[in-house]
Amino acid sequence: MRVTKKEKRRIIEDFKKHVSSGKVATFRKYGMQFIMGDRSGPYITDITGEKTLINCHCNGGVFNLGHRNPQVIEALINGTQTFDIGNHHLISIQRARLAKKIAGLMPGDLDYAVFGVSGGEAVDLAIKLARGYTGRHKIISIKGGYHGHTGFALATGDEQYRAPFGPNLPGFVQVPFKDIQAAQEAIDEQTAAFIIETVPATLGIAIPDTQYMKALRQLTQDKGALLIIDEVQTGFGRTGRLWGFEHFDILPDIVVLGKGLSGGIYPMTATVFRRPLEDFFRKNPFIHVSTFGGSELGAEVALKVLEISSDPAFLEHVNQMADLFASLIPPLIEKHKHYLDSFRQLGLMMGLVFNNEKYGVLFSKAAYDVGMLSIYANNDQRISQLLPPLIIEEKHVHEIIEKIDLAVSRLKYYSAIYTVADFIRRLLP
Ligand SMILES: Cc1ncc(COP(=O)(O)O)c(C=O)c1O
Repeated sequence: MRVTKKEKRRIIEDFKKHVSSGKVATFRKYGMQFIMGDRSGPYITDITGEKTLINCHCNGGVFNLGHRNPQVIEALINGTQTFDIGNHHLISIQRARLAKKIAGLMPGDLDYAVFGVSGGEAVDLAIKLARGYTGRHKIISIKGGYHGHTGFALATGDEQYRAPFGPNLPGFVQVPFKDIQAAQEAIDEQTAAFIIETVPATLGIAIPDTQYMKALRQLTQDKGALLIIDEVQTGFGRTGRLWGFEHFDILPDIVVLGKGLSGGIYPMTATVFRRPLEDFFRKNPFIHVSTFGGSELGAEVALKVLEISSDPAFLEHVNQMADLFASLIPPLIEKHKHYLDSFRQLGLMMGLVFNNEKYGVLFSKAAYDVGMLSIYANNDQRISQLLPPLIIEEKHVHEIIEKIDLAVSRLKYYSAIYTVADFIRRLLP
């Protein structure tokens, strides 16, 4: 899709007048007035055709299979021959197929799934279920974690996202990440659930260790509380395993899926839960409804996504690309040690750690200017998230490495023209 520069200016004006004047002002200020036009595989091109970016943001995993994946599009088109959204109250062939497929790919008795249209909605439902099932109200999350901007999901998050909306909901408590003692002190007989991302992305691709994850599992179990694992970003092969939590040898009570389940084409999320928890919905089958959740057409797409992502050859490919990054990044860190501190990685869930917040934030702009979309982590801005599509090939890995090299080389220049205060209003959430 292409338009002239004049038409692009008109689109920006319409967006400013009818969608968000603040976003237009922010992107104008930083010279990042990119409008997605053509898109394919790992690339997105500005609507004028003038600039192409390799996508290492991928909306946090929405584009795991690349942009406009042909197999996913084919599934969508085929699905339109038969399906529409369906009726969310009735028994559905598609929701039965999709839930059964997910159950078959999950360990243990994670046999049930209820579908939604956003990750926040799926997290909200996980919390409703935890409270409804246990009859308790306390929900513990980690500081700097992120589970969405909707009701209960927002209540689990940091104050900066909640502050304009008044006091937080009662019962929500945060503890520091990887602090077993703090978790132990917080989890008690009033606790309905502890919720955590497998790899907290907004906290800067913060990778937990097995001891911590196992401790959370044990502590919750000991107190009769549930463990909710948010796999919205880490699911579908991102970490080199189909589900990120598989790295830590734990069985959660509830798993939240989102983003990648859409194939980048049709919104679909799921709250997956263990068999005993279904007791709550058996008694209250209409306690939670979502008109578009579990669209029958969308299920066709999601089934294709699961088929592709669970293929052992696909996961093997993710691990090969991850190994290539693991070998190519350390020399870059050595070369740019004034700016770069370290590298965080679990499969293709990666983060570049800079020596300070300023460089982490400026890198987003420098990367954009050299043709790469990589956004800093809002809750630890020293880190730039590196989430390429999982379908990238060796040549793309080399291209990304070259762009990182170039962008970091320019940080001195960017430091001179932008102050940290410029970025305090935050480029992107
Ligand atoms: C880990 C995690 N959980 C939940 C969400 C919320 O998903 P959504 O934006 O689809 O509501 C996000 C979104 O970025 C996320 O990264």
